[in-house]
Amino acid sequence: MKKECVLVSGGAGYIGSHTAVELINAGYDVVIADNFSNSDMGAVEGVRRITGVDVPVVEVDCCDKSAFRRVFEQYEFDSVIHFAASKAVGESVADPLKYYGNNLTSFINVVSLMHEFGRHNIVFSSSATVYGEADTLPVTEQTPRKPATSPYGNTKQICEDILRDSVAAYDGLRGIALRYFNPIGAHPSALIGELPRGVPQNLVPYITQTAAGIRECLSIFGDDYPTPDGSCIRDYIDIVDLARAHVVAITRMVGGKCRKNYEIFNIGTGKGVSVFELVKTFERVNNLKLNYKVAPRRAGDVVAIWADTSLANKELGWHAERTLDQTLASAWAWEKHIRGIE
Ligand code: UFG
Repeated sequence: MKKECVLVSGGAGYIGSHTAVELINAGYDVVIADNFSNSDMGAVEGVRRITGVDVPVVEVDCCDKSAFRRVFEQYEFDSVIHFAASKAVGESVADPLKYYGNNLTSFINVVSLMHEFGRHNIVFSSSATVYGEADTLPVTEQTPRKPATSPYGNTKQICEDILRDSVAAYDGLRGIALRYFNPIGAHPSALIGELPRGVPQNLVPYITQTAAGIRECLSIFGDDYPTPDGSCIRDYIDIVDLARAHVVAITRMVGGKCRKNYEIFNIGTGKGVSVFELVKTFERVNNLKLNYKVAPRRAGDVVAIWADTSLANKELGWHAERTLDQTLASAWAWEKHIRGIE
């Protein structure tokens, strides 16, 4: 029987590469499309080594519609997972046109090419950022979205709306938006993981680079928040668990199991963890001491957010499985692997 094929745009990136592995492990054919603006072939090589499959890769910018159209002409996928996007919150404030240009153009192109070619299923990478500072915790998919506090966050909200309106208008198109909480960790093989360019903006890569001696000291942004230990609270989701959520979303659409043509699911653990807790867990699990200091609050940070994941648990049959200990061990194993540390 011919296998279902999935186009993974941004498939050489952090979440994309882990998702490609899980799709292949679940029996899907995968085509990766990536412009390599914030990724490299090393991730694709990792995917190939882990799976033993020579996954095809097309170097293409999804914003270039005629080049992107050739991918649709060449490959017979019925499903797309769209990761290709710029993702740095601070950079989006400094250069909003880059973010509106890249993230909206590429998404409009993918949806319109799917419509043009009669392709049916799309999973969109959304984010917990759409909830902003929520009035009640944990957040469910019904929790109202708050006005975005960055152009990056705004692109996530706008793309969700584009998807909702497009599936309502174009027959046969189905969409699932996955609202990710904070993805962390690496594949247990340590062959793929997060590889930020320059100074990491996110907590866990900053921690692992500090442990590796690349950064001198981790700054904990604020210890005077109204939380039990004064630091911010997030829902840290293991990257492999997150990748598996994409597989079940695709399988739901391919199997005609969707209740509506547009669905939204929170993808997190359902547990809030503070920055101090995360740092202490990293130290304990990896048996090391981290150099850190308390620094002023970072502009734009929400105090606390974590997910109610009951909808994904019930409808997708998906649960976060890996523990924070396992995830933080995998993050350090990956950092050691890429730095050649024993
Ligand atoms: N933090 C530090 N020190 C650092 C980096 C982060 O203390 O060096 C803290 C932050 O203040 C925050 C927590 O660690 O309290 C998590 O910060 P991250 O930058 O790792 O994650 P965010 O929750 O800020 O970002 C996530 C996603 C973004 C998304 C954003 C929206 O990574 O893609 O949520 O809120 F846009």
